[in-house]
Amino acid sequence: MQRLEAAPIALDVWPHPTPPPYPILTERVRGCQGLLCLLTDRIDAALLSAAGPDLAVVSQMAVGVDNIDVAACTASGIPVGHTPGVLSEATADLTLALMLATARRLIEAAADVKAGRWRTWDPMGWVGPDLYGATVGIVGLGRIGAAVARRLQGFDVELLYHNPRPSARAARVNATWVDLETLLGRSDFVTLHCPSTAATHHLIAAAAFRRMKPGAILINTARGSVVDQDALLGALRSGQIAAAGLDVTTPEPLPPEHPLLALTNVVVLPHIGSASLSARLRMADIAVDNLLAGLQGRPLFHCVNPDELQ
Ligand code: DGY
Repeated sequence: MQRLEAAPIALDVWPHPTPPPYPILTERVRGCQGLLCLLTDRIDAALLSAAGPDLAVVSQMAVGVDNIDVAACTASGIPVGHTPGVLSEATADLTLALMLATARRLIEAAADVKAGRWRTWDPMGWVGPDLYGATVGIVGLGRIGAAVARRLQGFDVELLYHNPRPSARAARVNATWVDLETLLGRSDFVTLHCPSTAATHHLIAAAAFRRMKPGAILINTARGSVVDQDALLGALRSGQIAAAGLDVTTPEPLPPEHPLLALTNVVVLPHIGSASLSARLRMADIAVDNLLAGLQGRPLFHCVNPDELQ
């Protein structure tokens, strides 16, 4: 905000902690030349047409842009900025935290301590599987997936990964490409780092859960849409998989009465993968850089449209 306030532009800032409802955003964007948005804002063709012909740039403070109709922006000649790279390490840290929290049952155990259920040192109390020495399957070995893989070197895991095509990053992190079925069938931990696209929508659904090991743990720090959440609930209830650690859900926020939240073997976080202070400040800086570049008709620093707008 300090940088935007110092820039020679007129600002219309949404002042509330929750996102502007879509009809209000559509109204407020009318006549704007730039839009700095969050992943909670739907940016579609109708909104672009409400904005009018002066809209020159959409700058999102996130790496994922599944809330934005990028094809519609491209068709209108509007570059879309995003913030890749600066949140990879923070998101990878959180992924490891979820792996350990679910495997070693940290949240459940801590809740038991607070509720007075810790009566003795129980030889079989709160036991769970090892991350050390496990087989970990990474779905999506991009920047974040590779940062997770680097951290896992210290846990002596066997690393499998699945991308549509084998990745040059794999050799650096000692990961082996396998098809998705093999990854699901062999992994003790399956961790999702693919973007949300039509191809990854419900990639992990009932058939995938049937393939997973009974003791397996699913971690999702990507997008809720990659997992069929009803199928996940069924798989957790039936013991098809052992636990899940979710930083992303459908919907967000997940209502407190959602049945997933009644399970002790699920850890749900409020989409905080990138919530280290330094990552969030760098995301904000890049979002401002992209916005100002677009307003000045310069190429964006990080642009998601196809080449012709970069
Ligand atoms: C992103 O940038 O897409 C993340 O999900 C936000 O933490």
